[in-house]
Amino acid sequence: MSFDRRIKIAPSILSADFADFGREIRAVEAQGADWVHVDVMDGHFVPNLTFGPPAVAAFRRHVTTVMDVHLMIAPVDPYIDAYAKAGADILTAHVEAGPHIHRTLQAIRGAGMRAGVAINPGTPAETVAHVLDLCDLVCVMTVNPGFGGQSFLEMTEKLHRLRELIGDRPIHLQVDGGVTPQTAPLVARAGADVLVAGSAVFRGGSADSPGAYGANIREIRAAAEGTLV
Ligand code: DX5
Ligand code: ZN
Repeated sequence: MSFDRRIKIAPSILSADFADFGREIRAVEAQGADWVHVDVMDGHFVPNLTFGPPAVAAFRRHVTTVMDVHLMIAPVDPYIDAYAKAGADILTAHVEAGPHIHRTLQAIRGAGMRAGVAINPGTPAETVAHVLDLCDLVCVMTVNPGFGGQSFLEMTEKLHRLRELIGDRPIHLQVDGGVTPQTAPLVARAGADVLVAGSAVFRGGSADSPGAYGANIREIRAAAEGTLV
């Protein structure tokens, strides 16, 4: 996995057909997804429950791009090895999920994955300032985590601040939640390079009829790049 700051669209399979993940992943990649975003929820850190390591290992067999696993679970540390074995390329933990984010990020890298840290809408940018050298990605939540399809919360100032803190370091700045062709320009202008989008990518299509996925991805990308006509 090489590093660059070009806009990347990472469809969240939270909005895919849960009975057909393999075909959904292959369809969305064939339609132009740069990464595949996998939302792991535990019904404890967030009020929703999705899937765990065996399901993520099954997704791995279909992902040919980058499998970006977003943990919305607490605690994180006991499960790091399981997600490494499941084949996560990037494993992101929330700074709010426990008292020792520094140790968690070290353990994620120690297990051979790229390490991400996510911050909720109410959490300031400075919270991650002292762990940036342990990070490959910072995820700014633009909704309260737990569900797809929520309205975008504006975090422009936080994104600008994080770009400043990141400086020249090879760290991706990701936004997650409520990304659409309307909101993508705001986050891209504020410095985000990885745009997670669930409902805005999967709307209108299916694995049998995936053309809409491609059109949605192209529209979000063009909006972010400022080339939407
Ligand atoms: C929210 C998840 C997001 C979510 C995004 O808890 O982390 O990845 O699926 O979905 P949309 O794009 O529909 O807001
Ligand atoms: Zn997510």
